[in-house]
Amino acid sequence: MRVLATLDGNVVDHRSPLFRADDLGVLRGDGIFETILVVSRQPRELGPHLDRLERSARLMQLPLPERASWERGAQAVIDAWPWDEHPEMGLKLVCTRGIDEGDGTPSAFAMGQEVGAETRRKRDEGVQVVTLDRGVSTDLMDRAPWLLLSAKTLSYAVNMAALREAESRGADDVIFTSSESTVLEGPTSTVVLAQGRKLLTTPPSSGILQGTTQGALFRAAEQAGWSTEVVDFPTSALFESDGVWLASSIRRITRVHDIDGTAIKVDEALNDEIVGLYESNY
Ligand SMILES: Cc1ncc(COP(=O)(O)O)c(C=O)c1O
Repeated sequence: MRVLATLDGNVVDHRSPLFRADDLGVLRGDGIFETILVVSRQPRELGPHLDRLERSARLMQLPLPERASWERGAQAVIDAWPWDEHPEMGLKLVCTRGIDEGDGTPSAFAMGQEVGAETRRKRDEGVQVVTLDRGVSTDLMDRAPWLLLSAKTLSYAVNMAALREAESRGADDVIFTSSESTVLEGPTSTVVLAQGRKLLTTPPSSGILQGTTQGALFRAAEQAGWSTEVVDFPTSALFESDGVWLASSIRRITRVHDIDGTAIKVDEALNDEIVGLYESNY
């Protein structure tokens, strides 16, 4: 199931071509995107997603259509979605730099997609992950901002290759590590771990994407009396923690039960509490 809309609020046939072959998004992956979870017509963390879209655009000096037009495109998709049949939707907002040697007008659209059965299964059952070296230092973002480490660009080929590598090793997902052997993030997720009544995650300044799902979880956790820390931590901390989760809009909060072939601590009551904290936002 797909529903596609342009930012003027028109729903168009998703099977019909929308992009030209000489669009820079197609030619160079030169563009940005967001993926938002919408449940029963309610988009989750829409404001933080649009903030992050604007931040990504600033980092790569991409002219971005105004916020109201993203909201209009998103609403058109939400209005046209068959909610009775599919109560959950992944809403993609995509913007590219437009036509190569064109007039600089960006190309953009909003598209709703079903949440796949595999994603839902992993939410229920948890995942096995492998750690993979991302080959970057935690200070690289500051030293080399042109690498766009904290922007959500369309260039996800490396992230997808890492997921295939995990699959070839019999795992479901990946936790990227830095050159200093600290934890970075997943190819499409933020890593969260629990130490007693404290939740930890890696700082965006280490070159990872600031997660809206992790942000929502930490907000609820703090209100419920948990402490939270945004800090670099070594890969070894994953094995010594009380629980590890991958957080992202579509997977929500998915527990990790095995890392590099080693079973880690999984406390089902704690998992229910963490998932419940995140859900309590909505
Ligand atoms: C690289 C990366 N990190 C983290 C996330 C999690 O972000 P969010 O929780 O805002 O979906 C994503 C989302 O797809 C991602 O691609």
